Amino acid sequence: MKVMVVVGARPNFMKAAPIISALRELGSSLASADGPGNDRPKEGICHLLVHTGQHYDTAMSGSFFSDLDLPAPDIDLGVGSGSHAVQTAEIMKKFEAVLLRERPGVVVVVGDVNSTLACALTAAKVSFGPEGHRPLIAHIEAGLRSGDRSMPEEINRVLTDHLSDLLFVTEESGLRNLAAEGIASEKVHFVGNTMIDSLLSSRQRADASTVLDTLGLRTGAHGNGSAVSQYALLTLHRPANVDRDTAFSSILEGLRELGAERPIIFPAHPRTRRRIREFGLERYFQWQPAGNGRIEAAAQGERGIRVIDPLGYLDFLCLMKNATLVVTDSGGIQEETTCLGIPCVTVRQNTERPVTVESGTNVIAGTGDEGIAAAIRAQLKNTGFRKAPEKWDGQAAGRIVSILSAANPHSAQEGVRCAGTPQPQ
Ligand code: UD1
Repeated sequence: MKVMVVVGARPNFMKAAPIISALRELGSSLASADGPGNDRPKEGICHLLVHTGQHYDTAMSGSFFSDLDLPAPDIDLGVGSGSHAVQTAEIMKKFEAVLLRERPGVVVVVGDVNSTLACALTAAKVSFGPEGHRPLIAHIEAGLRSGDRSMPEEINRVLTDHLSDLLFVTEESGLRNLAAEGIASEKVHFVGNTMIDSLLSSRQRADASTVLDTLGLRTGAHGNGSAVSQYALLTLHRPANVDRDTAFSSILEGLRELGAERPIIFPAHPRTRRRIREFGLERYFQWQPAGNGRIEAAAQGERGIRVIDPLGYLDFLCLMKNATLVVTDSGGIQEETTCLGIPCVTVRQNTERPVTVESGTNVIAGTGDEGIAAAIRAQLKNTGFRKAPEKWDGQAAGRIVSILSAANPHSAQEGVRCAGTPQPQ
């Protein structure tokens, strides 16, 4: 059976990498079990990795492949940026041609970005022949709901779930949400979180990152082993937060007190960096991004918000692990800080990941300056981390791949081979 895994944007890569790795392992174990007298089908399971190209910069995409040991994509649609409609439509046009050529048995989509919905919708409507066969659609990270339909990601989540045949859920709230929307329970599997698989398997490698030294965040002489300064880590990129001058400046006001006490490291998404210039918000920042991927060392004891270019996965993980506090509007970072036991302040009105709040690490602060400042004060004293959510144990991808390998797509074709994919040795 041919499994096609689709990635497109930065938060997809860490969720898909463990799936690819588990598929590779299964492929080789099936192949080594193929011997004389073994009646297992020679074809076994093989996979193709498709990158839509929604994110294309080295800092937003390329570096993640090496950090996560992801193989180069077998197929790159090279779609790039555009309005939501243009981006979604371009992906659909190009992905349909790929589906018709490759005829996979299963299409795996991850997360909630435009690439996720575009490829699920294409796969739901494609027809491989007169029998009307199409691939099964598997959605990794199904069932999350913020209840806020003004977020493009919420639309992507709801529609993708309703198109999917196999729904892999990361936390219990997902089970409740899908049941409430009438999705049949046979399709739904509570497997844990593949992003946490990546985090747990990369933790040690992240310790080798030199980013703390480069940023001057050690108290003593430079070098691994010397103590780490107290600093906060910030990420902001949601359109609702950074595309409006008043919303963006209210968040920055809320960070003033924190910035007066310690450095706030801010690896800025390209969208955010553009808005800082457009809205003339430079006064809130110590450093302007060079925009060339270089990180300059800080002067000892410097405070305030330091804007740097986006970081690779391992450098960012190292910064997150060692931070006193994380302030973010990202979905994934709420989960990663929960797993690491680091206090997190989420600058949004809601979260689709309530387990991060229940576990005691995450607080939803809203986007007003006073609410943010109060949440930061409270979180700096937070010792309330309880326990990692159920099944966030590094084994989610293994569970998913064993369910996938038992799936029986109508479209599985004898002799449809994984051209261009390394076959199991
Ligand atoms: C997308 C996802 C969001 C996710 C985020 C992570 C959707 C609807 N949104 O938002 O859920 O949290 O990725 O980063 O899919 N750009 C570059 N280089 C790149 C990619 C983008 O410069 O490699 C710039 C472009 O100007 C582009 C803008 O960033 O117009 C926004 O990119 P886009 O993919 O449309 O959405 P994100 O804001 O990145």
